[in-house]
Amino acid sequence: MAKNQRIRAEYLPYGRQWVDEADVNEVIKVLQSDYLTTGPVVTEFEQAFASNVDAKYAVAFSNGTAALHGACFAAGIEKGDEVITTPMTFAASANCILYQGGKPIFADINNQTYNIDPNEIKKKITSKTKAIIPVDFTGQPANLDEILDIAKKYNLVVIEDAAHAIGATYKNRKVGSISDMTMFSFHPVKHITTGEGGIITTNNRRYYEALIQFRSHGITRNRNKLIDDDGPWYYDMQFLGYNYRMTDIQAALGKSQLKKVDKFVNLRKKFVSLYNNAFKNLDEVITPHQLNETSSSWHLYIIKLNKSKLAVNRKELFERLIKENIGVNVHYIPVYYLSYYQELGYKRGLCPKAEELYENIITLPLFPKMTESDVNDVIQALYRALNRYRK
Ligand SMILES: Cc1ncc(COP(=O)(O)O)c(C=O)c1O
Repeated sequence: MAKNQRIRAEYLPYGRQWVDEADVNEVIKVLQSDYLTTGPVVTEFEQAFASNVDAKYAVAFSNGTAALHGACFAAGIEKGDEVITTPMTFAASANCILYQGGKPIFADINNQTYNIDPNEIKKKITSKTKAIIPVDFTGQPANLDEILDIAKKYNLVVIEDAAHAIGATYKNRKVGSISDMTMFSFHPVKHITTGEGGIITTNNRRYYEALIQFRSHGITRNRNKLIDDDGPWYYDMQFLGYNYRMTDIQAALGKSQLKKVDKFVNLRKKFVSLYNNAFKNLDEVITPHQLNETSSSWHLYIIKLNKSKLAVNRKELFERLIKENIGVNVHYIPVYYLSYYQELGYKRGLCPKAEELYENIITLPLFPKMTESDVNDVIQALYRALNRYRK
């Protein structure tokens, strides 16, 4: 290992889409059809997606953040309500609470799985708590049974942020069929893409109807729901919704990509096993911990540096890898470190385990279109970089 001194000529990103000719052809068909915005292909994509994750309903949105906003609305989150989430996530998981006037309450993580810790959730529950937003971090489902038990006990809604977890399972159940509502994102670094896009799956008809109406201004044309009905043209706006609709152009790409989700997840798993194997005897690197009860869909491969074994400077290591054209990243900066949240009054020190994790992690490239040779380049670059710290 690490004998090879080859430095990559091309930059290897940490993630990227895989769009093939079949996908392009499906998009072209829509461009040549009558509907460009929300039409029949959005419905077809929603049905195919719901069926893929064993859910009754799916509602597509213009992006995953909008979808989370919709879920917070459907859950009835209002001004002053508290919603518990993890700090180890992208800002969107907490921003959606603020959009509804709610207050994000951050609960610390489990330091093995890096997912939100149900015991920490319990500590944060008050009479104002309305919902929990667990995140399936890196693709490994959160401790859903315990979280759902807590939710049942305190009458809370669980909105699972599964932006990382299309294709993951929890105790042999598909992510998307378990929580009250589950959000998936189709940003290009995720498993499948629609350019921008997101979706909520649910088994609850009431949430489904609220989501449909919310993503289109709060407007309904459903004759049974109208208060006045001047004629066939009449519609009503019954609450303040948004224009968060997905287009048929996006949905055509999504429908075509969805056919490849298993292939994409399997390729990710293959590359993960190459990484795990390469790092298994490396004391300085803690590889991701996987629980037997879950099957991760491996959106991200994150290593944690064991500084007690080797005095590695994370920033320096990161910069060395970037110099070698290895597109490393850090997922995530604890949300409440971000200055907007600091200005809201959140203080550092709130979730010590998440903070300690943030100090020591690096995300290595992982995406289905990379090759084994790309994986080897990453492994060798990491070995070379670590060697500099060995005496
Ligand atoms: C955990 C998590 N939640 C929410 C989002 C928001 O999704 P989107 O970028 O589709 O708005 C993302 C991705 O960007 C994410 O990684």
